Amino acid sequence: MATPVFLSVGAEYSALCAALHEQCFTGKDRWSTEAFESLFSSPGMLTWISVQQDKPAGLLMLRHVGDEAEILTLCVLPEHRRKNVASALLRQGCRNLREQGVETLFLEVSTHNHGAVALYKNWGFTECGLRKAYYQDGSDAAVLSYCLFNEIV
Ligand SMILES: CC(C)(COP(=O)(O)OP(=O)(O)OC[C@H]1O[C@@H](n2cnc3c(N)ncnc32)[C@H](O)[C@@H]1OP(=O)(O)O)[C@@H](O)C(=O)NCCC(=O)NCCS
Repeated sequence: MATPVFLSVGAEYSALCAALHEQCFTGKDRWSTEAFESLFSSPGMLTWISVQQDKPAGLLMLRHVGDEAEILTLCVLPEHRRKNVASALLRQGCRNLREQGVETLFLEVSTHNHGAVALYKNWGFTECGLRKAYYQDGSDAAVLSYCLFNEIV
């Protein structure tokens, strides 16, 4: 398998991030170019695009503050799924966060999003909270956390 290539990106990639997001999410879960521009302008942002055969395949956006970080979005284009693209992006993000001394990574995921829940649970994320009816479709958000000094995946 080819070595994964990760492109560290900032605001100048907002349109590409939005195009990736549009193909991975539906309805109001899609973020616009302006939404990405706004996020990139806030402190603590870390974002990578996974590049497969010279084309973007997935996106991971993190925000870190002090010794904590959160996953703002993680998505992989449908044709690249179940090929460990998300796992490789997570590995890249966790490595970077560890280097910066971040200890805990959090995220929110719809309890209806079985694929994403399976991914995070397999990684060793554990549930630390539940936000009832958090999403527009009425689904709950599971709050998951991951200790970055667990055995490295
Ligand atoms: C969730 C998502 C990021 C997973 O990306 P991916 O590159 O396919 O994930 P990986 O290939 O790294 O998956 C690793 C493991 O996670 C689990 N997993 C991932 N997707 C799964 C699915 N749809 N159903 C069940 N298990 C899944 C499996 O255990 C998988 O290992 P396996 O393929 O050997 O069985 C991708 O499906 C996606 O972009 N979905 C739409 C956007 C989204 O929901 N993002 C998450 C928001 S929090």
